Amino acid sequence: MFAYQEDGRYFAHVARGLEEPAKAELEELGARDVEIADSGIHFRHDAAGLYRVNYGSRLVSRVLAPLASFSCFSEQALYDAARAVPWEDLLSLERTFAVFANVRESRITHSQFAALRVKDAIADRFRDRCGRRPDVDPESPDVWIHLSIRSDRAVVSLDTSNGSLHRRGYRKQTVAAPLQETLAAALVRLSGWQGERPLVDPMCGSGTILAEAYMQYCRIPPAFKRERFGFEVMPGFDARAWEEVRREYDAARRALPEGLIRGSDLDRRSVAAARENLREIPGTRGVAVERKDFRDLPGIPGATIVCNPPYGVRVGEARDARRLYGEFGDFLKQRCPGSTAYVLCNSQELAKAVGLKPSRRFVLFNGPLECRLLKIEIF
Ligand SMILES: C[S@@+](CC[C@H](N)C(=O)[O-])C[C@H]1O[C@@H](n2cnc3c(N)ncnc32)[C@H](O)[C@@H]1O
Repeated sequence: MFAYQEDGRYFAHVARGLEEPAKAELEELGARDVEIADSGIHFRHDAAGLYRVNYGSRLVSRVLAPLASFSCFSEQALYDAARAVPWEDLLSLERTFAVFANVRESRITHSQFAALRVKDAIADRFRDRCGRRPDVDPESPDVWIHLSIRSDRAVVSLDTSNGSLHRRGYRKQTVAAPLQETLAAALVRLSGWQGERPLVDPMCGSGTILAEAYMQYCRIPPAFKRERFGFEVMPGFDARAWEEVRREYDAARRALPEGLIRGSDLDRRSVAAARENLREIPGTRGVAVERKDFRDLPGIPGATIVCNPPYGVRVGEARDARRLYGEFGDFLKQRCPGSTAYVLCNSQELAKAVGLKPSRRFVLFNGPLECRLLKIEIF
């Protein structure tokens, strides 16, 4: 029996900074005993709930089903314990697999090496029992095994998402510094926008914020393009319950009122990328994207403005970025009365350059970069 079958607990990976909104989202999706931990969130759910979280969570990066946990003070202990796991209940000779590892503060120090030992343990167990072993496919395996070792304690899990959920599949074109989809979804969620007034991104780049806002409003499941999930290989997988979850989501969809979501960018290639990406999502014809410098826009009154202006992290760009943030602050003040802006920026200095006092700041991480999402109310 696997560990998750005994205690019904799963573990959701979430990006740093997204723990609180992701916890709230998991609770909305019906999860129980939701507890924030190091680099993720523990929760309990039934089988249909696990499918619902994978299909419908906008902020979670992946959901792991723990298979076994054990002390591992040495490479041999890791190999022996991994070999004792009943892998044949999950894998078969027809399914490819791969092992990904993350090791911290332990006697075993190399993640790749640890992954290799678990892979060997699986292969040897199969060879003993069937004379052959399943193939490894590190690019696109049918079964993703995740190994985590912290303080000499190992947990091997099945990735029930089959790869990171931030890969929604609509982003065919990218431009410099696109936001990860889960982070863009978090910006929209943190803005509290529910469709009561327009949502505008005047520096939309490849359109990630627009796409996530659209899917939230229209209730399109973020994983609607995903072809397979890891939970489909779990023993006792309930195909009917999964079908029912998809039916529920399909029934809940709604159309976008004209003009409710729009974006612009001064860069021609960004505008083309945003349009192409949005076309990947059904029903987005109503999302207008135009090529425009925000300084030439007549104004954005009475709206929710969500954007991440360029960071200017490279040498020589810092001064330009300060000027741009200053001009954006002026634009908000002079031409956006009654709007609330949510601006993601990565330094104190740029936050100050906006020249408007935020009523709230959220600490978020864009990859390794610590950022602030500033909430600015314009009167
Ligand atoms: C960090 S990127 C935004 C990335 C976007 N959120 C995404 O996920 O692809 C910043 C964008 O601001 C745009 N930009 C810079 N200055 C601008 C201006 N004055 N007016 C409009 N857009 C501008 C850039 O062309 C760039 O696409």
